[in-house]
Amino acid sequence: MNQQTSRRAVVRTPHGPESIEILDVPVPEPGQGQVRVKVAAAAINPVDLDVTGGGLHRLGLVTQPEHTGLGSDFSGVVEAAGDDVELTVGTRVAGFVGGFDRDHGAHADHVVVDAADVAVLPDGMCPNVAASLPLPLTTAAQLLEVLGAVPAEGRRLLVTGAAGGVGAAVAVLAAERGWEVTGLARPGDEAFVHGLGVGFTAAPRAGWDVVADAAAMQDEAVSLVRAGGKFVGVKPGLEPAAERGIAVDVVVSRPDGRLLARLLDRVVDGAVPVRIHATLPLAEVVSAYQLLAKGGVRGRVLVLP
Ligand SMILES: NC(=O)c1ccc[n+]([C@@H]2O[C@H](COP(=O)([O-])OP(=O)(O)OC[C@H]3O[C@@H](n4cnc5c(N)ncnc54)[C@H](OP(=O)(O)O)[C@@H]3O)[C@@H](O)[C@H]2O)c1
Repeated sequence: MNQQTSRRAVVRTPHGPESIEILDVPVPEPGQGQVRVKVAAAAINPVDLDVTGGGLHRLGLVTQPEHTGLGSDFSGVVEAAGDDVELTVGTRVAGFVGGFDRDHGAHADHVVVDAADVAVLPDGMCPNVAASLPLPLTTAAQLLEVLGAVPAEGRRLLVTGAAGGVGAAVAVLAAERGWEVTGLARPGDEAFVHGLGVGFTAAPRAGWDVVADAAAMQDEAVSLVRAGGKFVGVKPGLEPAAERGIAVDVVVSRPDGRLLARLLDRVVDGAVPVRIHATLPLAEVVSAYQLLAKGGVRGRVLVLP
């Protein structure tokens, strides 16, 4: 790589991790209100596996004509700023690139995003920790908004995937709001889920007032909701069918720098756990995806440019 180019991980014809290519592209320039971040670390999320697997292309949810960029959340340093940006060059930030139908992403040397979409890192937070948080934490907080006010009656909330990035944060934030939370996870995750300060189950019975489906169990999770209860999913465009008077809703995460800044402070406070499984260089991005694709991973897999 020379100074005029930037590496970017993409897929053209997606058929699993082996289809990932690294392109050399011109270093992207920030427009008005934007910053260019030199990426320090970027996490791989389940959606990246979905994109590389081609499933979202087949559903018509990814329509890029040439290639699709990979990677959502990142940490790094502001390297250049467009007009009307208060953030200064050299500021350490984190954020995520919204959506997934795009030709660029955070698995790259550089990313250009709206300045309003990033949060300044709390003092002392290391880049790897910061890169593992923006998408799951923001999604969790925005899922809480979809859940709405805690009812006086009917506070029993089941959070599926409570050992995962989104689910663990949903469990913590929901319990703080007054929901009576039980986390659904694998039997080996019991101690971790109890450590979140919530109940645990690996084999839930039906009858929950609300299910927050961070494991994307879809119809199976809807079947656990009581008649007239509520289901909130995590797969926009793929919402399961409503049944028995159950309200079916979905969270669509949106970058929000102010919200993320508050959430990063909660991590510093120790309220929300951080787990990193492995870090690999961007040049080994295929191996990093293969590692996550094997399943059973606890914590984020990060790629480092
Ligand atoms: N709507 C949005 O904007 C948005 C944003 C971010 C994420 N998401 C979606 O949210 C989901 C969770 O993301 P994440 O980052 O939290 O993933 P993650 O860290 O991989 O967590 C998912 C967890 O669910 C567990 N799980 C799956 N099936 C289970 C089952 N039947 N019983 C118990 N546990 C089960 C997994 O365990 P195993 O590894 O053992 O299977 C894993 O611990 C993904 O589908 C992702 O695409 C949506």
